[in-house]
Amino acid sequence: PDLFQPERPNSQGLDLRHRPTITALDKARGAFRDTSWSAAPMVGTDLTAGQTEGVFNPADPSDKVGEVTWATADLARAAAEAAHPWDVSPAERARILNAAADLYEAHQAEIFAILHREAGKNMLDAVAELREAVDFLRYYAARGQDGTDTPLGTMVCISPWNFPLAIFTGQISAALAAGNAVLAKPAEQTPLISALACRLLAQAGVPSTALQLLPGAGDVGAALTSAPQVDGVAFTGSTETAQLIHRSMAANLAPGAPLIAETGGLNAMIVDSTALPEQAVQAIIESAFQSAGQRCSALRCLYVQEDVAEGFLEMLKGAMQTLVVGNPWDAATDVGPVIDLEAQNGILDHVTQASREGRVLQQVAVPATGHFVPPTLIRVNGIADMEREIFGPVLHVATFKARELDKVIDAINATGYGLTFGLMTRIDDRVQHVTTRVAAGNIYVNRNQIGAIVGSQPFGGEGLSGTGPKAGGPLYLERFRAHPAQRSDA
Ligand code: NAD
Ligand code: ALA
Repeated sequence: PDLFQPERPNSQGLDLRHRPTITALDKARGAFRDTSWSAAPMVGTDLTAGQTEGVFNPADPSDKVGEVTWATADLARAAAEAAHPWDVSPAERARILNAAADLYEAHQAEIFAILHREAGKNMLDAVAELREAVDFLRYYAARGQDGTDTPLGTMVCISPWNFPLAIFTGQISAALAAGNAVLAKPAEQTPLISALACRLLAQAGVPSTALQLLPGAGDVGAALTSAPQVDGVAFTGSTETAQLIHRSMAANLAPGAPLIAETGGLNAMIVDSTALPEQAVQAIIESAFQSAGQRCSALRCLYVQEDVAEGFLEMLKGAMQTLVVGNPWDAATDVGPVIDLEAQNGILDHVTQASREGRVLQQVAVPATGHFVPPTLIRVNGIADMEREIFGPVLHVATFKARELDKVIDAINATGYGLTFGLMTRIDDRVQHVTTRVAAGNIYVNRNQIGAIVGSQPFGGEGLSGTGPKAGGPLYLERFRAHPAQRSDA
């Protein structure tokens, strides 16, 4: 097959400028305004689970969204023993994954409601998240029918809270499309949406021994990544956790068990003096503040050429002032809350320190209650000043002289991360010069640097940002398959 021509169209999403669409959606979502959902382990063993706790809305902590019954490390080990690869033909697996995609779309209003209330996703993010999840299901269903049908066996899939449906679904649908059994551990902050996803996958026909759900914290993930029955791990989350998992796998799993890790970034954008300011400002606002900056791809450090910096930053600060920060349920909200109190406190500490040092250039007002962080612009000397990924709506800005361009590129590469990078320029030679020197998995020119599209823009980083292969790309499924050296009959 032609690797870059997947045999299915991407989903269409929704046109949020079309008033009748919004009116119908509001009515459908309204039915779930006060719903209480539940999540619990879905496992192929009769061992009992752990404690039950409430799940609360990050925009309004008095809104109880549901309850989760946690898995325990013992239950995780029992589930690993009960796992059984999905023993049907690739065509049948594809049929079932496509049926699951249809069910996701049919449950659109409920999915949006959970994404708003559990994960703090605004309307734009919720629409994009459902689209990406559906695209992953259909893309990997198609890819699962290419190549040799040699599943690895049992895959652990560990996902983060910031794409609690899309990344959760992407990992497990790839593993299932290749015929593996899946032990899925969603992030502890977002168990409810993962439980709905697993109920829909089960309804579509995925058997309970092929897909087991283990809501839990890091200890459950650690139990899974050290279970001897496990043949490989797909992980998306922080670089630090990926390193822990790597060590655990080396100590406990068979040699050669693959770790597919998609991790953090310290992403930069360079704006030179020829860039169109209006276009660049729009791209920066989206890249830094959409999803409240809680994207691994988000822009963290902006470099603006000194000659144009003063006027450009005035325009950027003005655009920031127009951002509406508020409850993600409201269609007018541009920026929702961050995921929880711990995240809020960690980001606010960083902003407070910058404020004490007189480096805050702009800050936007936020509601008094809820886990909100003001969209903030902070002056830095360069990306080397940033010691860690600040996972929220905080943008850092530095200026550079034209003759320093290569030094800026060196500083970006010296972080060791390499996820996304943006360049705004109208000089063709500069596009060539910069994009061939910056080490980043996804490079975007004269547009925003978020929102990679499954099948067209495979997504993933290098260095500290990930192991590859890129998600939503033609090579991804190969890592979920056994190759001759790994097969027990080889
Ligand atoms: P995290 O590393 O804290 O948690 C991710 C997952 O790992 C969770 O399910 C968590 O319970 C689990 N976990 C924690 N300790 C574990 C252990 N010892 N063993 C096994 N599993 C363990 O990350 P997070 O805060 O949920 O997510 C944010 C991070 O994810 C950011 O760094 C972001 O850049 C990154 N991210 C990367 C991508 C990408 O595609 N590259 C996408 C989204 C998020
Ligand atoms: N795939 C997500 C993006 O491109 C993280 O923004």
